[in-house]
Amino acid sequence: MARLDTFYFGTNTKMYKTIAETVAYLEALIRLTADVGRESMELFVIPSFTALAAAKQCGLQRQILLGAQNMGWEDEGQFTGEISPLMLNEVGVEIVEIGHSERRHVLGETDEMENRKVRCALRHGFRPLLCVGETAEQKQYGIADEILSMQLKIGLYGVSPARAESLMIAYEPVWAIGTGGTPATEAYVADRHRFIKTTLAALFGQNEGRNIPVLYGGSVNLENAVSYSKCPGVDGLFIGRSAWRAEDFNAIIRAVMEIRAASTEKCCAFTSECEK
Ligand code: PGA
Repeated sequence: MARLDTFYFGTNTKMYKTIAETVAYLEALIRLTADVGRESMELFVIPSFTALAAAKQCGLQRQILLGAQNMGWEDEGQFTGEISPLMLNEVGVEIVEIGHSERRHVLGETDEMENRKVRCALRHGFRPLLCVGETAEQKQYGIADEILSMQLKIGLYGVSPARAESLMIAYEPVWAIGTGGTPATEAYVADRHRFIKTTLAALFGQNEGRNIPVLYGGSVNLENAVSYSKCPGVDGLFIGRSAWRAEDFNAIIRAVMEIRAASTEKCCAFTSECEK
């Protein structure tokens, strides 16, 4: 299901946009990105639960995939405030975001809870987008990779290699996210993505593991998006604040896709030179 020649762009609007604001945003994003070929990119938006039904009516087609910010792990039951996979299926969601740092660190979710959600999302045919990332303190102690390993091994526990093709991972260092966030260096991002890819290959096999798209997120903006997109192992960008105006998101998408198109052309030119 995942295509690694594809570059992924996604945004989670957190607790920011009302139904009307989400609809206006999506309509603008569809219009602005209409001419950007979808054969080499996948675009998704994850609005609030209340906006999902209206979002689905915006004529998204396959231009923009729709995601939910969270999901309960039971089909139904005494879980006040939770949203069930059946409800998300009914509304037509394709992606379920699981374990965003705010769910883990503000709302107290554990790796075991994320694992239940991942498995439940797979059972119901969604693409789980599992978010992982170390805190500033964990980075300072030099245990970022240990934390990532734990979050991946527990979060994806019991997922078979055959199911792995539906997975997506977002690496988002907690210290790089949001208004107080410090953007990570490209070298740091490349190192963590390499580690994540290696861990996924160990869990699911070389091909299955390495084909799982790993997106980078945390203070991504128009200035740094192209550099992050060039880091080895970065298959997409998961963006918050800098994507919440459709014009800004469109500018980031175009900047990255133009560079990717130019480098593909260069590769093709080299290849045909060599073949002469
Ligand atoms: P940010 O948010 O881009 O505003 O740092 C990223 C996220 O929370 O996923």
